Amino acid sequence: PAIPPTIRRIVLTGFMGSGKSTVGALLAERLGWEFLDLDAHIEARSGSSVRDLFANHGEPHFRLLESSALANALGRRNVVLSLGGGAPEQLTNRLLIEQTPGTHTIFLDAPFPVLFDRCVLQAIARPVLADPAIAEARFHQRQPHYRRLARLIVDTAALSPRETVDLLVHSL
Ligand code: S3P
Repeated sequence: PAIPPTIRRIVLTGFMGSGKSTVGALLAERLGWEFLDLDAHIEARSGSSVRDLFANHGEPHFRLLESSALANALGRRNVVLSLGGGAPEQLTNRLLIEQTPGTHTIFLDAPFPVLFDRCVLQAIARPVLADPAIAEARFHQRQPHYRRLARLIVDTAALSPRETVDLLVHSL
């Protein structure tokens, strides 16, 4: 597919379970672009897993590493970048995304129960999901930030990752 020259990188946002990593990898493959998962990038740069970073150093430390990994990742071109669900909550990160020209941000949305079920099915231990009530509160708190950053919002509740990618490719 032809990508408008004004789009130099695609950033996928959304809560845990929204499909950012799966959709991001498929989309990058379709575009012939690099795929970068911000959590994996943080893990590669720090040499620790996200889980260990939360457990051993606390969330504020993780958020600092996340911001610096984001600044680094936004320097790349022809890349699909999947953010961690919490990245848009930080003002610094929102400014970085908004002020990096050529950044096309897409919000993968779905209702909280759908996201929660997907995460349970994936059975990946995520520190922020440990308490479902707190996770739901964070979901609502982040919603306006995801929306404000987005050039496009896709409701993925009834879509497979492949269907989502088809829709995204046609929207560019
Ligand atoms: C987090 C989401 C995770 C990861 C970390 C914190 C969050 O990424 O960055 O566990 O605060 O929502 P995913 O959204 O890719 O699971």
